[in-house]
Amino acid sequence: MRAEKIIRKIRSEDLEDISRIIMEVFPEDCTVIIRYVRYIYGLVREHSYVVEISNSIVGFSINSVEYGRGHIMYLAVRDGYRGRGIGKALLCMSLIHFFYGLKLPEVFLEVQTGNMPAIRLYESLGFRIVRRIPRYYIDGSDCYVMTISSRTFRDICDRVCIPLLNDYDLHEVGRLFPKSSSHDNYLSN
Ligand SMILES: CC(C)(COP(=O)(O)OP(=O)(O)OC[C@H]1O[C@@H](n2cnc3c(N)ncnc32)[C@H](O)[C@@H]1OP(=O)(O)O)[C@@H](O)C(=O)NCCC(=O)NCCS
Repeated sequence: MRAEKIIRKIRSEDLEDISRIIMEVFPEDCTVIIRYVRYIYGLVREHSYVVEISNSIVGFSINSVEYGRGHIMYLAVRDGYRGRGIGKALLCMSLIHFFYGLKLPEVFLEVQTGNMPAIRLYESLGFRIVRRIPRYYIDGSDCYVMTISSRTFRDICDRVCIPLLNDYDLHEVGRLFPKSSSHDNYLSN
């Protein structure tokens, strides 16, 4: 039997698992990131998602709203679970939340200029590089700022996100789209 994959909003009890993933994935900066995520938990919990497989968290997206725009702050998938669409599903869910749930006009993120897996992932969902910020990270490396507008996402959502998310148990997420959208009742089961 295939293990059930659940996407749901983050809960405070997930912070232990998330901290362990941060240690695995961002070993150099893990102390700072773990402290920061705990500090901002109250601000991000409404916007952040995890993927759970067999009762354990295998990936997360920590998101916030800043000046009326969605911000993908941290996205990570455990090493052994990569390449299976989990990062893309987390990003899809986050974008649906921002664009369809909150009706924000734009979502942005920062990514290290050499992080090709992440850049490819963001481009595959319609993000475009708009700026390079020198020495953005503690180690002195640069970042790209990438953005996507709600208009760009609409088509990608139908083509890429809906089929991908069909593979997940979404019952805890609730209705994916507001009643007024063309996706009415998509998740009314
Ligand atoms: C970036 C990351 C979240 C991707 O998660 P993932 O679950 O492996 O990604 P997916 O399986 O959903 O892949 C989605 C797309 O991303 C791109 N991608 C993912 N891994 C890639 C790789 N190693 N090389 C090139 N492209 C890659 C591909 O375009 C892929 O689409 P495809 O499978 O249709 O070709 C994961 O590699 C990770 O946790 N990295 C470390 C943390 C990090 O860098 N986070 C981002 C910055 S905060």
